[in-house]
Amino acid sequence: MKDHIRDQFPALQQENDGVVPIFLDGPGGSQVPNCVLNSMVNYLGSSNANLGGAYFTSKKTQSLMSDARQAAADLYNAPSANNIVFGANATSLAFHFSRAVANTWQRGDEVIVTALDHYSNVSPWVLAAEEKGVVVHQVPVVEADCTLDRQALLGLLNEKTKFVAVTHASNTTGSMVDVKAVIEDIKSHSEALVYVDAVHYVPHASVDVQALGCDFLVSSAYKYFGPHLGVLFAKESVLSSLSPYKVAPAKDVNPGRWETGTQSFEALAGFVSAVDYIASLSDLPVTRSRRERICAGYEHIIQHEKMLSAHFLSNLEGFTGIKLFGLSSSENRTPTFAFRIEGIAPRAVSEFFAQYDVCIWDGNFYAQGLYEQLGLTDIGGVIRVGCMHYNNVSELERFFELLEKCILLHK
Ligand SMILES: Cc1ncc(COP(=O)(O)O)c(C=O)c1O
Repeated sequence: MKDHIRDQFPALQQENDGVVPIFLDGPGGSQVPNCVLNSMVNYLGSSNANLGGAYFTSKKTQSLMSDARQAAADLYNAPSANNIVFGANATSLAFHFSRAVANTWQRGDEVIVTALDHYSNVSPWVLAAEEKGVVVHQVPVVEADCTLDRQALLGLLNEKTKFVAVTHASNTTGSMVDVKAVIEDIKSHSEALVYVDAVHYVPHASVDVQALGCDFLVSSAYKYFGPHLGVLFAKESVLSSLSPYKVAPAKDVNPGRWETGTQSFEALAGFVSAVDYIASLSDLPVTRSRRERICAGYEHIIQHEKMLSAHFLSNLEGFTGIKLFGLSSSENRTPTFAFRIEGIAPRAVSEFFAQYDVCIWDGNFYAQGLYEQLGLTDIGGVIRVGCMHYNNVSELERFFELLEKCILLHK
């Protein structure tokens, strides 16, 4: 990745007590480039207003709302900006839609969730199913490599299946799911709606909702260089046939009728810049469409992150007493790694690294189904190292230097 990329992220330039920190915590939330920070400050500084007013800042805010919907449509390759619904975060959007979707379920219907998912894409559907007397099945993972057990999913599908919630990539193990193939399986065996959690996928690869054929897809902009904002795609047929829970005087027009209360306009301003930032990573001229530049930008991200994954995995292999949970090659995965070190609690490891301002995480990351299946519930979960395109090899070398030291210390 080009050097000037890192220069755009003030967090990567800072010093904490004289030490330049290393952020390997991307899956928990990425760092933010200057263009996003500037857009948010500019919006609040000069355009801050609510929608629907007669005066200029309100009109500017209205046009920001349209720009943000178009940016999301370009990011997802949605057919129209009217397929986009914004919310506080991915979890709030899932809870919001779960109420409306569940109103179409009858007792005896079936819903499928997965053990690879963050519980943001499990609990809303399980709770809604409980209220409606609907059966919930959870697809396990293949334990050898923590990928989704697609055969098990296939075996659960039938004409009673009304809804499937599935992740595009695991925020814990980094395993990607071939969502297009999964949706083909689902749609050929049932009429189920499919809700895709792309929160961990969008920071690392481009999505195309039309190619996937999903009914819903959600991501969270704070995971891909933007502010805290949930960004949802839904098919027009779904937005029109379901009824939102909304306040009576709010306009009953899609997609706005799905957005509760006042949106975070400063987050929308930052989101547009985050999408433009991804597009700016491409070498294509600005005369090409934003969608083309987004896809080309992701190609650079993928190439760089694959290199980081290969570097990480080959170095990790050199250590004894480490168990990796997930794919051992750089294919079909994000550069997110979950592992345990024999005899050392995950929290002790992340605390050791924190002393050196190397930011890694430990725990279960709300992937409750995964850690229950893998028996990690009562033992502190895993250590998670998550790279982003702004990380580099010298940061990983520092990580491995410290890993060696940490293991020696605990011997
Ligand atoms: C894969 C995945 N899905 C969903 C969520 C929840 O997202 P949000 O914080 O926007 O509710 C997270 C957050 O870590 C996540 O990693």
